[in-house]
Amino acid sequence: MFNDLSSLASYLASRRSGRPREMIAPGPSDTQIEKIVEMAMRTPDHGKLAPWRVVSVGKDQRDRLVEGMTAAYLKETPGAGRLELEALDKISNEAPTLLIVLSTPDQSSKIPLWEQELSCGAFCMNLIHAVHATGFVGSWITGWPAFNDDVRDLFGKTPQKIAGFIFIGTASAELKERPRPELSQILSKWDG
Ligand SMILES: Cc1cc2nc3c(=O)[nH]c(=O)nc-3n(C[C@H](O)[C@H](O)[C@H](O)COP(=O)(O)O)c2cc1C
Repeated sequence: MFNDLSSLASYLASRRSGRPREMIAPGPSDTQIEKIVEMAMRTPDHGKLAPWRVVSVGKDQRDRLVEGMTAAYLKETPGAGRLELEALDKISNEAPTLLIVLSTPDQSSKIPLWEQELSCGAFCMNLIHAVHATGFVGSWITGWPAFNDDVRDLFGKTPQKIAGFIFIGTASAELKERPRPELSQILSKWDG
């Protein structure tokens, strides 16, 4: 099935994300982005609904993104201070490439919403794998903007949710490891 099982296993055993603020150019080209998304589309999806969409926000569109996010933030938090708004500006401008993943479930389908949302989470993870397989680093971020309806509406129509902001670029520093859970906390034998 795979040409090189050992390198796939070693990738999965050591996989880690980059930090958006440490991502520099180059990011993937438009053609590479298309291939990355095509790889991610090979995600388990009960009912073949493809309940995920991707919106690519170009580097030249980041100012417009900051404007939209700032307006949404000020509507929600009218007394927002300069530092809060600067933080929005900063995060919106990180990394050369930004993909917004939207969860777009079919509400009329008999496939439970939960399954469609799980598929979207799996899609995000697959996207990160595809980014890494293409030689870049990625990071899946949500934060306040992912839960604000006005920010969501910048990317399309309801019903949908922002599943994540996927920042992509070239690592400018070695990727840092972080503590991982103990296997015994995660895996157990059924005592039934
Ligand atoms: C749905 C989701 C949202 C996340 N949002 C954030 C976030 O807003 N800020 C953040 O620092 N990490 C966030 N993370 C965590 C990072 O994506 C990443 O998992 C973490 O930095 C560790 O990376 P690694 O285990 O992939 O190496 C989020 C993860 C998920 C699954």
